[in-house]
Amino acid sequence: MKLAHFDGDLAVLAYSGGLDTSVAINWIKEKYAVEVATVIVDVGQAEDLQEAADRALENGAVRSFLVDARDEFADRFIAEAIKANAMYEGRYPLSTALARPLIAQKIASIATRLGAKYVAHGCTGKGNDQVRIELALKALNPALSVIAPIREWNMNRDDEVAYAAARGIKLRKSQPSRYSTDENLWGRSIEGGDLEDASVEPPEEIYQWTSHMEKWPDKASYVTIQFEHGLPVALEGRRLPLSQLAIELNRIAGANGVGRIDHVEDRFVGIKSRENYECPAAVVILQAHRALEGLVLSRELLQFKSFVEGKFSELVYNGFWFSDLMESVRTFVSSTQENVTGEARVRLYKGYATVSGVKSDRSVYRTSLSTYSRGDSFDQRAAEGFIYIVGLPVSGVASSEFDASDVQERTVERKIQKAA
Ligand code: ARG
Repeated sequence: MKLAHFDGDLAVLAYSGGLDTSVAINWIKEKYAVEVATVIVDVGQAEDLQEAADRALENGAVRSFLVDARDEFADRFIAEAIKANAMYEGRYPLSTALARPLIAQKIASIATRLGAKYVAHGCTGKGNDQVRIELALKALNPALSVIAPIREWNMNRDDEVAYAAARGIKLRKSQPSRYSTDENLWGRSIEGGDLEDASVEPPEEIYQWTSHMEKWPDKASYVTIQFEHGLPVALEGRRLPLSQLAIELNRIAGANGVGRIDHVEDRFVGIKSRENYECPAAVVILQAHRALEGLVLSRELLQFKSFVEGKFSELVYNGFWFSDLMESVRTFVSSTQENVTGEARVRLYKGYATVSGVKSDRSVYRTSLSTYSRGDSFDQRAAEGFIYIVGLPVSGVASSEFDASDVQERTVERKIQKAA
């Protein structure tokens, strides 16, 4: 893509087509007296992005870019998250968080190539996304100045609607939702409205990727996922690019209600927030990947890796994708995946995904050692010496707390009752 430099000051806005960023085009022009170019980064949100891109021009943008980044998102970001079994606070597969550095990178490159002075985003001042986008921008091109209209102007949704009406700003045809949502290939986030009360059960209407409870099939579905070096490469033996594989699994697992997550999470900015997620593909792939790792990796490696995984997830959540620690963490994680090749079969049934079998040529699981049947090659007598040696440091350490009397009395009572 060749971009001519723009004469005069320009702000490049990360734009979604929603209320906030539609209004922001006008607001930036009025407030900063600069022209605005908009960028939609397609990371797999299931919306009419072309319509949104066209509408940006109608709403006063001088340029409107639509960047298809689906494969890059899958291959550079989701892939790393799979290898690292990334789950924030053990619950959230980091779908929104993973896309932010990529979005920041795309607006930074367009801004740099256009010679723009500013980049802008529609994040609020209370969330993680402003941090993630701005830390990525800082890492990539610290010369760019940031405009954050939503954070600066302090308008609420009603004010924005009134502002849009007064200036003839065109909004999406559909009614604005009661919830704030965000989506990409790795999941869908839903927050706000009545969900802000953590005791309220999420109503079925918030879900779009997971079928409604009363429609969950009565029969289980099975999917088999093939992995190579830690990454899913095929479904039922059919090879697919990761982006496609995620789309297919979102559909199949979503139909069985798999992937709903209701989480009161801890934002980097110190606020607790209640977020709901639909991440069918992520939930299935991460479970399958973890099960396969259990078959092929040693105990020591699994233990140490799980510590590194926690760090990976925290770095993604807090916005440090571009950092020296993250690079080293990713290098370590990738180095563990050489033997993570094989397949996992997953059962999908009424909201649950359960791994029902794993298989690999690189398996370090030996039936000849674990079996209780004939063919046992394990010398059970060796266990005596093992326990003797590992038991040396604990020998007698709890004798002072040991009291054998009460259990003996009860045993006696019972014997008497039986005899009577
Ligand atoms: N809590 C999630 C995160 O910080 C998602 C944030 C965006 N959520 C939303 N509903 N717009 O990664």
